[in-house]
Amino acid sequence: MSNVVKIYFSPSGTTKKVIDQMAGNFEGNQENYDLLNFNSQKEFSSDDIAIVGMPVFAGRIPKSARDRLEKLKGNDTPAIAVVNYGNAHVTDSLLELVDVLKENSFNVIAAASTISHHSIFSGVAVGRPDSSDIEKINEFAEKCQEKIESNESLNSEIPGNRPYVDYKQLPFVVSCDETLCAFCYDCVSICPEHAIPDDDPVDTDLDLCSRCTACISICPEDARMFTGDAFEGKKPEFEKANSERKEPEFYL
Ligand SMILES: Cc1cc2nc3c(=O)[nH]c(=O)nc-3n(C[C@H](O)[C@H](O)[C@H](O)COP(=O)(O)O)c2cc1C
Ligand code: SF4
Ligand code: SF4
Repeated sequence: MSNVVKIYFSPSGTTKKVIDQMAGNFEGNQENYDLLNFNSQKEFSSDDIAIVGMPVFAGRIPKSARDRLEKLKGNDTPAIAVVNYGNAHVTDSLLELVDVLKENSFNVIAAASTISHHSIFSGVAVGRPDSSDIEKINEFAEKCQEKIESNESLNSEIPGNRPYVDYKQLPFVVSCDETLCAFCYDCVSICPEHAIPDDDPVDTDLDLCSRCTACISICPEDARMFTGDAFEGKKPEFEKANSERKEPEFYL
């Protein structure tokens, strides 16, 4: 029986949710490669099935997630590429993910862009993925299974351009409310950029921080958050501009 290999980078947990949902449709032993923690080399076989999920960060896959993904090699391993975004724009991220997987000898058989609750602007795509998304994800997973069984490859064109848009550092401030912090150091352990000093979890090095949201999501005291004029000023405008529901897209 195949191993179902789930590979994901999911700072606020929704990309993992989508990948878990998709993988639940496949039989076989499930393995997790959580790229917030896993930063090593690994090779997969042609009997494995890889389901790979990345959030969209400013139209790209996150830089450190890409660096970690590049350490994982396929051997003609069938792969499903998924980018998960916050109802704004996919831009070049899905094309980038498919390219990286192909360069690393995965056999990309299908791809998808799914929508989840925006991890920075909490008023966008609230409650997603919802039951309608889940139904579509399950239908897609069934079609992927059929493709793998009949050895078919990816036929659809993936949207996006090369060269991809430049990486963009968002100007928002991630800060910590010292009066709430319980000094558990969970944020220090999870930060993929080592932007929170291990002797001072109240601090954040904003030059290193990718604004990924992992520390905000993991903090048991809700002490970490986006703050500052740039964030507060952008929020209403962004939430209004991205209020219209977008639907997941599937490429077979
Ligand atoms: C730094 C950053 C940049 C983002 N850029 C985009 C974007 O370009 N387009 C979009 O629709 N959503 C964007 N989002 C929202 C996330 O892609 C979305 O909320 C996703 O569900 C987060 O996945 P996670 O829950 O696995 O962390 C961004 C989020 C972050 C933290
Ligand atoms: S400090 Fe920045 S990079 Fe580190 S976990 Fe928090 S948001 Fe992500
Ligand atoms: S996770 Fe929250 S409570 Fe724990 S050290 Fe970080 S900011 Fe403080």
